[in-house]
Amino acid sequence: MSTSISVVGTGYLGVTHAACMAELGHEVIAYDVDASKIDALAEGVLPFFEPELEGLVRRHTATGRLRFTTSVAEVAERADVHFICVGTPQQPDGLGADTSHVESAVLALLGHLTRPSLIVGKSTVPVGTADRLNRLVERWAPPGVSVEVAWNPEFLREGHAVRDTLAPERVVLGVSSQEAGKVLLLVYDAFVVDDIPLLVTDLPTAELIKSAANAFLATKITFANVMAELCEASGADVVTLADALGFDSRIGRSFLGAGIGFGGGCLPKDVRALAATAGELGVDTLATFLREVDAANTHRREAVVEAAVSQCGGTVTGTRIACLGAAFKPGTDDVRDSPALDVAARLQLRGADAVVYDPEANQNAAHACPTLRFVETVDEAVDGAELVLLLTEWPELVALDPCALRPRVRSPRVLDGRNALNPERWRAAGWWYRAPGRPNI
Ligand code: UGA
Repeated sequence: MSTSISVVGTGYLGVTHAACMAELGHEVIAYDVDASKIDALAEGVLPFFEPELEGLVRRHTATGRLRFTTSVAEVAERADVHFICVGTPQQPDGLGADTSHVESAVLALLGHLTRPSLIVGKSTVPVGTADRLNRLVERWAPPGVSVEVAWNPEFLREGHAVRDTLAPERVVLGVSSQEAGKVLLLVYDAFVVDDIPLLVTDLPTAELIKSAANAFLATKITFANVMAELCEASGADVVTLADALGFDSRIGRSFLGAGIGFGGGCLPKDVRALAATAGELGVDTLATFLREVDAANTHRREAVVEAAVSQCGGTVTGTRIACLGAAFKPGTDDVRDSPALDVAARLQLRGADAVVYDPEANQNAAHACPTLRFVETVDEAVDGAELVLLLTEWPELVALDPCALRPRVRSPRVLDGRNALNPERWRAAGWWYRAPGRPNI
């Protein structure tokens, strides 16, 4: 059944949710304060790279099921269910999440609502946020208009956003009334038909499920990374170790990729935000545990820089290093808290002539790190290099031909910061191959 939906905030999450809700058959209006972004989206132009999304936005602006606006009044007039998809960045002066955009969005909406409405949070927030929003609703909802807050956390990954939204592994619905649950089940009735698990729960549990999922993923990666350090100290091989652990169905192989650590706009800030919440609520064991995960993850970046320095003979001053990858992971042009870009910047600080190539993220990376040198091709990056450093495992970089690259470099040394290359293939082509947690042959 079709529902009138609004999506507030047109970042990765908002645009994906809006286009996918239109794909499910709903009438969707997406709102943002940024007029230039809204104009571009209305023309079917995305302000970021996300596979499949631009086509979906164009399809549904054409069907008329997806519209874009900068008018909150229009949002309130057209929709009954309002999904809040604004950012919750790390606070500038602390570890916690800044929820001020969520609060402002809800307050702006409340001023214009004229009929019964459901406000559904999708942003990742500290537990207790929905409760606080309910108090804002009690205070500021127009008299006689019934408004309720629900929470429906999002689990999509950048680079897979459309597929993750249209075929999620589970849907979590945090509600405080049966009516709100019924409205959300109608929004997601296609998933009910597809037998996708739908968990209906209370507001704090729904909020916490999302934070816990990201903290768990971050912890799993970090476990692989600290094991990589132990492998280096003992001569063991972290890739074989992860493969063996991964066959255990209780563990699973995904997110056991050791290397330069996790980054992006979500995992790092969500780990810190959960640590901050745990500290505020007096759960110090969790706060300490998560701070360790964060510190161990940041340490990976410096550890890989050290490995690069050692591979270059103890100093990188004036050494030409090809840094392949700048995005925080493949499939995106996002460089927020990117370990790849951080490693390149740290090498430059050590005096290296770091040359960076990324298939999609050069522009964002140059904006974030204007002093680094960016080039348009792998060949330009590796020409004359004394070390090739793989920092983001884009398929085109993983598939590089080591035989073809060899004549271009000054020294055939490669440091595989993502454990993504085939060591035998590179060694057979005459390269001196190193990777975190793998034995030096
Ligand atoms: C993450 C979660 O995976 C999503 O479920 C969640 O919805 C999203 O955050 C969010 O909160 O919005 P995303 O930030 O797109 O998604 O990135 P991930 O695919 O989780 O990767 C995060 C980082 O971990 C990347 O830097 C990646 O390179 C790194 N990683 C991942 C590893 O270092 N090793 C691995 O084995 C896997």
